[in-house]
Order: sequence, then C-alpha cells, then structure tokens
Amino acid sequence: MMMLRIAIVLCACIIATPAMPYIKMIKNASGAKPTQPEFCLVTCAGSTGAGTTKWAVHSADKMVTEVDMTECGFIDTPVVTTSLSGSGWHDLQKGTSAPWSITKTGFLLAVLDNGKAPSESLATENKWHVNWIAVGFFCDYKDGDLESKIVTP
Ligand SMILES: *[C@@H]1O[C@H](CO)[C@@H](O)[C@H](O)[C@H]1NC(C)=O
Repeated sequence: MMMLRIAIVLCACIIATPAMPYIKMIKNASGAKPTQPEFCLVTCAGSTGAGTTKWAVHSADKMVTEVDMTECGFIDTPVVTTSLSGSGWHDLQKGTSAPWSITKTGFLLAVLDNGKAPSESLATENKWHVNWIAVGFFCDYKDGDLESKIVTP
C-alpha cells in the first residue's frame, strides 16, 4: 500500500514537471526571434487533395493554386514548407517548394514549366496536389495576462 502511494506521488510529480516544448521556432518568417510564447505554437498540416485541387492557368507555362490555412488559427505569418505530389509529371515542375504570398490564412503555389508545360488536364489526369506543413502561433501572452491575449481567429 505504501509503495503504491509512493508510486502515485512520483507519477504525479513527473506529470507536473514542466516539459520542454515539442515544437520550437527560433526565427519567425521575418528572421526575428518570436515574441509569442512557445506554448502558443502549433504545427498545422494539410493537402489540397489528390483529385480535388483547383488550378488557375496564368499562362502557357504557369499554373497557380490557392491554399487555405484559415482553420489553423494562426495569429501571425507561419513558417511554411510545401511539396507537389501526384502520379506523374509533377516531378518535372519548377516552384513546388516555393510558396508565394504567405499570410496567416493561406498562400499561393505556382507551378512552372521545366520541360513539360503544366496544364489543367495534365494536373487532373495525374492528380497533382500540394502537401504542406506550417508552424506558427495561435495565441499570444503579454504582461502576465493570458485570458485577454488569446486571439481567436
Ligand atoms: C517576428 O518577430 C518580430 C519580433 O521579434 C515581430 O515584430 C514580427 O511581427 C514577427 N512576425 C513576423 C511574421 O514577422
């Protein structure tokens, strides 16, 4: 019985010990040290979807898709990485890891001709889609006042 009590107390102490954050952001999208606390960080990922991605054709060698990150609830511009996936020819496009106009709610990805011109039919046939991972802040904390500083998008 005594041993069990000691075990329970030990367990409670381990759980109550402040842990190192699982996510860190050492520089934000401006290359500056973020001022928001690490416990407000979130990793948010998504995909425009194989077979559901809509492309806007800008010219014979350029197609653009818009990615919506609103549901991530970011309060500041996140750090974003992207990749283009599909079942063919996506590996012969330029710009697949070069997101444009990143804001807290979304970004644009432009796919450019690199030997095989991108087109809506090529993209549809090969189910091209953008996979993305964004790390950013969903809350802020200033002057010891958390309640009034949580920003809900
Ligand atoms: C980055 O951090 C600086 C403060 O260190 C802040 O002024 C800026 O708004 C932050 N966010 C972005 C996206 O630049």
